[in-house]
Amino acid sequence: MSEELKQEPGFGSSLALLDALGIGPVWVRRELAVEEVQGTAATQEALAPTPAAPVESPNVSAPQPVAAEAKAAVVTHARPSPPLPVAPAPAAAPVEQEGGPPSWLDDMDFGTALEPVLIPDGDEEQDAPSVDPLIARLKTMDWPQLKQQVAGCRRCGLCQGRKNTVFGVGDEKARWLFIGEGPGRNEDQQGEPFVGPAGKLLDNMLLSMGVKRGENAYIANIVKCRPTDDNGRDRPPSAQEVAACLPYLQRQIELIQPTVLVALGKTAAISLLGMDPATPVSRLRGTVHRYQDRPLVVTYHPAYLLRTLTDKSKAWADLCLAMSTYQAQSR
Ligand code: URA
Repeated sequence: MSEELKQEPGFGSSLALLDALGIGPVWVRRELAVEEVQGTAATQEALAPTPAAPVESPNVSAPQPVAAEAKAAVVTHARPSPPLPVAPAPAAAPVEQEGGPPSWLDDMDFGTALEPVLIPDGDEEQDAPSVDPLIARLKTMDWPQLKQQVAGCRRCGLCQGRKNTVFGVGDEKARWLFIGEGPGRNEDQQGEPFVGPAGKLLDNMLLSMGVKRGENAYIANIVKCRPTDDNGRDRPPSAQEVAACLPYLQRQIELIQPTVLVALGKTAAISLLGMDPATPVSRLRGTVHRYQDRPLVVTYHPAYLLRTLTDKSKAWADLCLAMSTYQAQSR
């Protein structure tokens, strides 16, 4: 870790919080059986400090990003195009437990997602499939107008099953923006993003960076309504659902004007970067991408990290990259 980072406010508490992430200050991985993190009670266990074990992967032992490296690694994508619909994949997505979106699995299958349904509501938006009039209207919306628009949104079939829209939460002038996939059951019930076990881990990830939910940080999702399958289980949003919802996030980003965006997981990353859905997170992390003119760092989804403890140290390396990028932008 760089001396610069050690001087950062909150660094001392960061060490304690790294424990919650399962990472020791010398970058050792905590050994936990995967079964121990299944379910809410066990998830708490996963977040608690456990005895250290040697690092298995040599390339994650010392994440030491520096501003120069961060700058050198910047990749600019042509434009943040909304993802195009993709051809159905042959295999069904793995069945996930209820309570969290399943796309933290790197080999997520978009092809099994439900087709969106446009609900007739007398709005002119449905009559012009090639030009989306909402985009122009969103450009002029302030926070209250945008919130109201999202609360009443019927642009895709997800509105049918939702209890609440999940707009996003935090400091509306935050310099950090963390973007997840979409609400799960807890979030749908409470109307707030990342309130379940994955949210607890996200809060700890934020704290390890010296960032607190609601203070200089905003948390949002790619889609504002909970996607579920026919059995009521969480699933990733379809490409069409993402395309329908993304303009809201784009307006949120325009209003917030964050310094750094952190994409949590594959859905967030590929949706914002307009990339092939088959691109694994492992190929996107370690690089500073750009979303429009803002730096974007990709890391694993917290829910994935709860299940794949071996990747927590990589996530910490990603957060270090995000922090050094942030510092470089703040100079
Ligand atoms: N997973 C997400 O991606 N977003 C949430 O809000 C909750 C879980």
